[in-house]
Amino acid sequence: MYDFKPAEPLPADELYRELLAAAGALTEGEPDAVANMANVAALLWEFLPDLNWAGFYRVAPSKKGGDEELVLGPFVGRPACIRIPFGSGVCGAAAQSRATQLVADVHAFPGHIACDAASASELVVPVLRDGAVIAVIDLDSPTPARFTEADARGIEALAALLASRL
Ligand code: SME
Repeated sequence: MYDFKPAEPLPADELYRELLAAAGALTEGEPDAVANMANVAALLWEFLPDLNWAGFYRVAPSKKGGDEELVLGPFVGRPACIRIPFGSGVCGAAAQSRATQLVADVHAFPGHIACDAASASELVVPVLRDGAVIAVIDLDSPTPARFTEADARGIEALAALLASRL
Protein backbone atom coordinates (compact mmCIF):
# COMPACT_ATOMS: atom_id res chain seq x y z
CA MET A 1 0.00 0.00 0.00
CA TYR A 2 1.33 3.41 -0.89
CA ASP A 3 1.08 6.38 1.41
CA PHE A 4 -0.75 9.16 -0.34
CA LYS A 5 0.72 11.74 1.99
CA PRO A 6 4.26 11.81 3.39
CA ALA A 7 4.37 11.09 7.13
CA GLU A 8 6.94 13.85 7.72
CA PRO A 9 8.72 16.55 5.71
CA LEU A 10 11.11 14.84 3.27
CA PRO A 11 14.16 15.98 1.29
CA ALA A 12 13.29 16.70 -2.35
CA ASP A 13 14.70 13.48 -3.84
CA GLU A 14 12.73 11.26 -1.43
CA LEU A 15 9.65 13.45 -1.70
CA TYR A 16 9.54 13.11 -5.49
CA ARG A 17 10.39 9.40 -5.37
CA GLU A 18 7.36 8.85 -3.11
CA LEU A 19 5.15 11.20 -5.11
CA LEU A 20 5.99 9.39 -8.36
CA ALA A 21 5.41 5.98 -6.80
CA ALA A 22 2.02 7.11 -5.48
CA ALA A 23 1.05 8.74 -8.80
CA GLY A 24 2.14 5.62 -10.67
CA ALA A 25 0.10 3.35 -8.42
CA LEU A 26 -3.00 5.57 -8.57
CA THR A 27 -3.06 5.93 -12.36
CA GLU A 28 -1.80 2.50 -13.45
CA GLY A 29 -4.27 0.70 -15.69
CA GLU A 30 -6.80 3.56 -15.51
CA PRO A 31 -7.58 5.04 -18.95
CA ASP A 32 -9.80 7.91 -17.74
CA ALA A 33 -7.78 11.11 -18.01
CA VAL A 34 -10.08 13.18 -15.78
CA ALA A 35 -9.87 10.61 -12.96
CA ASN A 36 -6.08 10.48 -13.26
CA MET A 37 -5.67 14.27 -13.30
CA ALA A 38 -8.03 14.63 -10.32
CA ASN A 39 -6.10 12.12 -8.22
CA VAL A 40 -2.72 13.57 -9.19
CA ALA A 41 -3.89 17.12 -8.36
CA ALA A 42 -4.92 15.84 -4.92
CA LEU A 43 -1.56 14.08 -4.51
CA LEU A 44 0.37 17.23 -5.40
CA TRP A 45 -1.65 19.13 -2.82
CA GLU A 46 -0.96 16.50 -0.14
CA PHE A 47 2.74 16.07 -0.89
CA LEU A 48 3.97 19.59 -1.60
CA PRO A 49 3.90 22.16 1.20
CA ASP A 50 3.14 25.84 0.75
CA LEU A 51 0.90 25.75 -2.34
CA ASN A 52 -2.26 27.73 -3.04
CA TRP A 53 -3.09 25.99 -6.35
CA ALA A 54 -2.14 22.66 -7.91
CA GLY A 55 -3.64 21.21 -11.05
CA PHE A 56 -3.90 20.80 -14.78
CA TYR A 57 -4.73 22.73 -17.91
CA ARG A 58 -5.47 20.54 -20.95
CA VAL A 59 -4.84 21.37 -24.60
CA ALA A 60 -8.24 21.53 -26.32
CA PRO A 61 -9.89 23.28 -29.30
CA SER A 62 -10.95 26.87 -28.69
CA LYS A 63 -14.67 27.57 -28.32
CA LYS A 64 -14.78 28.88 -31.88
CA GLY A 65 -13.20 25.63 -33.03
CA GLY A 66 -10.05 27.27 -34.31
CA ASP A 67 -6.65 27.15 -32.70
CA GLU A 68 -6.01 25.00 -29.68
CA GLU A 69 -5.73 26.63 -26.28
CA LEU A 70 -5.37 25.59 -22.64
CA VAL A 71 -8.60 24.67 -20.86
CA LEU A 72 -8.92 24.28 -17.10
CA GLY A 73 -8.68 20.69 -15.84
CA PRO A 74 -8.86 19.06 -12.41
CA PHE A 75 -7.20 21.09 -9.64
CA VAL A 76 -7.10 21.90 -5.93
CA GLY A 77 -7.34 25.56 -4.98
CA ARG A 78 -9.50 28.57 -5.79
CA PRO A 79 -11.62 28.68 -8.96
CA ALA A 80 -9.34 29.70 -11.84
CA CYS A 81 -9.38 31.17 -15.36
CA ILE A 82 -10.96 28.63 -17.69
CA ARG A 83 -9.25 29.31 -21.03
CA ILE A 84 -5.68 30.47 -21.63
CA PRO A 85 -4.33 31.05 -25.17
CA PHE A 86 -0.95 29.57 -26.06
CA GLY A 87 1.71 32.18 -25.31
CA SER A 88 -0.37 33.94 -22.64
CA GLY A 89 0.81 34.02 -19.02
CA VAL A 90 3.04 31.40 -17.42
CA CYS A 91 0.91 28.42 -18.46
CA GLY A 92 0.60 29.68 -22.03
CA ALA A 93 4.36 30.24 -22.19
CA ALA A 94 5.00 26.64 -21.07
CA ALA A 95 2.54 25.32 -23.67
CA GLN A 96 3.95 27.41 -26.50
CA SER A 97 7.62 26.76 -25.73
CA ARG A 98 7.07 23.16 -24.54
CA ALA A 99 9.50 24.05 -21.76
CA THR A 100 9.24 24.23 -17.98
CA GLN A 101 8.59 27.70 -16.56
CA LEU A 102 10.10 28.25 -13.11
CA VAL A 103 9.00 31.72 -12.00
CA ALA A 104 10.32 33.12 -8.72
CA ASP A 105 8.18 36.28 -8.88
CA VAL A 106 5.00 36.06 -10.91
CA HIS A 107 4.49 39.82 -10.74
CA ALA A 108 7.69 40.28 -12.77
CA PHE A 109 6.53 37.78 -15.46
CA PRO A 110 5.18 39.57 -18.55
CA GLY A 111 1.51 38.73 -19.03
CA HIS A 112 1.15 36.71 -15.83
CA ILE A 113 -2.53 35.85 -15.32
CA ALA A 114 -3.51 36.47 -11.71
CA CYS A 115 -6.21 33.89 -10.95
CA ASP A 116 -5.52 34.12 -7.21
CA ALA A 117 -4.02 37.36 -5.89
CA ALA A 118 -2.20 35.30 -3.26
CA SER A 119 0.08 33.65 -5.84
CA ALA A 120 3.68 34.87 -5.65
CA SER A 121 5.68 32.14 -7.44
CA GLU A 122 4.78 29.47 -9.96
CA LEU A 123 6.06 26.29 -11.63
CA VAL A 124 4.48 25.12 -14.88
CA VAL A 125 5.61 21.92 -16.63
CA PRO A 126 4.29 20.78 -20.03
CA VAL A 127 3.10 17.20 -20.48
CA LEU A 128 4.42 16.04 -23.85
CA ARG A 129 3.24 13.06 -25.88
CA ASP A 130 5.12 12.26 -29.10
CA GLY A 131 6.69 15.72 -28.87
CA ALA A 132 3.35 17.58 -28.71
CA VAL A 133 2.03 19.31 -25.60
CA ILE A 134 -1.21 17.70 -24.36
CA ALA A 135 -1.51 19.45 -20.97
CA VAL A 136 0.43 21.46 -18.40
CA ILE A 137 0.88 20.87 -14.69
CA ASP A 138 0.57 24.18 -12.81
CA LEU A 139 1.72 24.79 -9.23
CA ASP A 140 1.27 28.14 -7.47
CA SER A 141 2.62 29.27 -4.10
CA PRO A 142 1.98 32.32 -1.91
CA THR A 143 5.73 32.35 -1.10
CA PRO A 144 8.14 34.11 -3.48
CA ALA A 145 10.75 31.74 -5.03
CA ARG A 146 9.02 28.70 -3.49
CA PHE A 147 10.04 26.35 -6.31
CA THR A 148 13.56 25.01 -6.96
CA GLU A 149 15.29 23.18 -9.79
CA ALA A 150 14.65 19.99 -7.80
CA ASP A 151 10.91 20.73 -7.95
CA ALA A 152 11.17 21.37 -11.69
CA ARG A 153 12.97 18.04 -12.29
CA GLY A 154 10.52 16.20 -10.02
CA ILE A 155 7.44 17.58 -11.76
CA GLU A 156 9.02 16.90 -15.17
CA ALA A 157 9.42 13.25 -14.13
CA LEU A 158 5.75 13.25 -13.09
CA ALA A 159 4.78 14.74 -16.47
CA ALA A 160 6.73 11.97 -18.26
CA LEU A 161 4.93 9.33 -16.20
CA LEU A 162 1.54 10.85 -17.02
CA ALA A 163 2.12 11.35 -20.75
CA SER A 164 0.52 8.02 -21.64
CA ARG A 165 -2.14 8.22 -18.90
CA LEU A 166 -3.97 11.47 -19.76
N1 SME B 1 -1.08 32.21 -13.22
C1 SME B 1 -1.27 31.37 -14.37
C2 SME B 1 -2.73 31.15 -14.67
C3 SME B 1 -3.27 29.94 -14.07
S1 SME B 1 -3.58 30.08 -12.43
O1 SME B 1 -2.36 30.39 -11.70
C4 SME B 1 -4.28 28.74 -11.82
C5 SME B 1 -0.58 31.91 -15.60
O2 SME B 1 -0.11 33.04 -15.64
O3 SME B 1 -0.52 31.17 -16.55
